[in-house]
Amino acid sequence: MSTPTEVGGRERLGRVVPDAIAALHEVLRRHNVTEDEWYAVLEYLTAVGKADEFVLLSDVTRTSVLIDAMSHNADGDATASDVEGPLYRADPPWREAPVKLYEDYEGAEDGEVLFVRGRVTSTDGTPLPDAVIDIWQTGPNGGYDTWDERQPEFNFRGRWRVADEAGAYQFQTMLPKPYTVPTQGPVGRYLEAMGQHPWRPAHIHFKVTAPGHEPLTTQVFFPDDPYLENDTIGAVKPALVRPVERRGDHLGCDFDIALAPAG
Ligand code: BEZ
Ligand code: FE
Repeated sequence: MSTPTEVGGRERLGRVVPDAIAALHEVLRRHNVTEDEWYAVLEYLTAVGKADEFVLLSDVTRTSVLIDAMSHNADGDATASDVEGPLYRADPPWREAPVKLYEDYEGAEDGEVLFVRGRVTSTDGTPLPDAVIDIWQTGPNGGYDTWDERQPEFNFRGRWRVADEAGAYQFQTMLPKPYTVPTQGPVGRYLEAMGQHPWRPAHIHFKVTAPGHEPLTTQVFFPDDPYLENDTIGAVKPALVRPVERRGDHLGCDFDIALAPAG
């Protein structure tokens, strides 16, 4: 873990932090915030830290979306980025071709098998066979492996090298459904107090890296989802909504990925 000083440097910290404090003081003064209220805020933030929910708080306050928008060029030819969220697990298993992201488990019976396929290229169209794709998503119900006891560890997670001259990839998964972000902790209390629903539209998270290219973290969404217009973290980008169609006994979805050259 890096400190803000290590990331931004002492000089930048000296410019940003006083502005942040001045903005906070202005709000406290404008609303005449009392001593009791301020100590309740501090207690609340302590609980957020203890529950390891600061990323989640950044997400539901749509601060992560703001930072993503400021950090990545939305007008270029590269695939649009999107926020990572708090549910990525480092070092997921390497999957062998043909990639299947899950083991069957009790509770997945109602799910629909989905094949996602596409090409990973540079923005000029050059295929990237050395790209590594890393996926994480919920199951068709029950959410992520980390909180669904029926699922084996790292179910619906995995990475692999594209290893195809044309940059083509394909993986077998199940169509995820909308789900709620974790609500049992302090961020859940925030959502309730603010009258903000906890739902996210169904999506699949991608991290894609390739030598000589900017890494991409993004999400793919599906049409006709009731939460496309009101994702609780506000992360839906129209360019990332991809049609799903029936292909025989399974569903199919195409998602081509273009990475920007480094620098
Ligand atoms: C997610 O999509 O995994 C997620 C994003 C933000 C908050 C909680 C979950
Ligand atoms: Fe997610």
